Amino acid sequence: MYASFRSIGAYAPKKIYDNSYFESILDTSDEWILKRTGIKERHIADENEFTSDMGVKAAEIAIERSGLKKEEIDLIVCATISPDYFCMPSTATIIATKLGLGNITAFDISAACTGFVYALSVARAFIESGMKKNVLIIGAEKLSAITDYSDRGTCILFGDGAGSAVISATENKEEAIIDIHTGSDGSYADLLMTPNGGTGSEHDELASETCFMKMKGNETFKVAVRTLTKDVVEILETNKIQSDKIDHFIPHQANYRIIKAVGDALKLKEEQVVLTVAKYGNTSGASIPMAINDIYESGKLKHGELMLLDAFGGGLTWGSALVPFAGK
Ligand code: UT7
Repeated sequence: MYASFRSIGAYAPKKIYDNSYFESILDTSDEWILKRTGIKERHIADENEFTSDMGVKAAEIAIERSGLKKEEIDLIVCATISPDYFCMPSTATIIATKLGLGNITAFDISAACTGFVYALSVARAFIESGMKKNVLIIGAEKLSAITDYSDRGTCILFGDGAGSAVISATENKEEAIIDIHTGSDGSYADLLMTPNGGTGSEHDELASETCFMKMKGNETFKVAVRTLTKDVVEILETNKIQSDKIDHFIPHQANYRIIKAVGDALKLKEEQVVLTVAKYGNTSGASIPMAINDIYESGKLKHGELMLLDAFGGGLTWGSALVPFAGK
């Protein structure tokens, strides 16, 4: 049995912070943000809109497009670093209940911006081992809840949203996910972290302001370019696939300059590279599925086309995947 990428869905909240919003609260400018990041807007969830709510909206679309009945889903994996509740219950179990799928295996994955690729690898393993048939994977983030809006080096980057995919068993090898590489290196943990709120906290109190993300942006940038490039070169070489055979290169949407550097290193043409960072900013685990959904909804992603996913994030974690689109 093989695992195939059967459908995609996504959701972005209505409220938008454009660059002028940050000009009004910080010492920054639209020009600086655009030049250094490529970001114009980010979608921001309402106070009462939780990560699980956005995950449910994306999942409902992915399930509908899969042509499956929701009861045929037998596993839910949610990748998030901004769960509804920090320890328990998992956001995946909340999503399961909100979808009306109470009795189901469901759990979260914590791999930051690489979360969706990790979730994809888990779905593939469950399917190829014969344990599950239809896995719903979700990347959902309410990063606005863990963003320090007084830190101009990070707050201009992040947005909220969710993306979801149904991964299904198939006997058709042509539809099978070709390969997934994942990795991590915890010695870089301090580059991008939420230093408080867990049992390794620097402070005793769990006040939310102390749980905000902290990032050494410039160092992270350099490691990101190096790692994202190395990762995709390796997966292409391992599978003897030339970069011109990739229909859609879908990198984690952290910064336009990072994506451009990786695309240039791989000698990719502009039309191969999927860019959504301008309108969503960095939505961590949701960024790759939201980008896949964008090309699907604009009619650019067709059945059988080859996607190359490339993710990098806090941990540090990274992952890449060669995935034919098996949806309609
Ligand atoms: O998703 C997981 C992975 N995340 C990433 O890959 C993000 C990686 N990092 C980045 O995208 C970039 O490092 C940033 C966009 C965060 C920052 O861009 P940079 O080109 O690395 O800038 P920098 O941190 O080296 O700062 C350059 C200057 C500094 O001023 P001085 O010291 O040169 O006077 C900063 O204080 O830019 C200043 N600066 C700003 N100025 C205006 C930093 N943030 C801002 C801002 N507006 N928002």
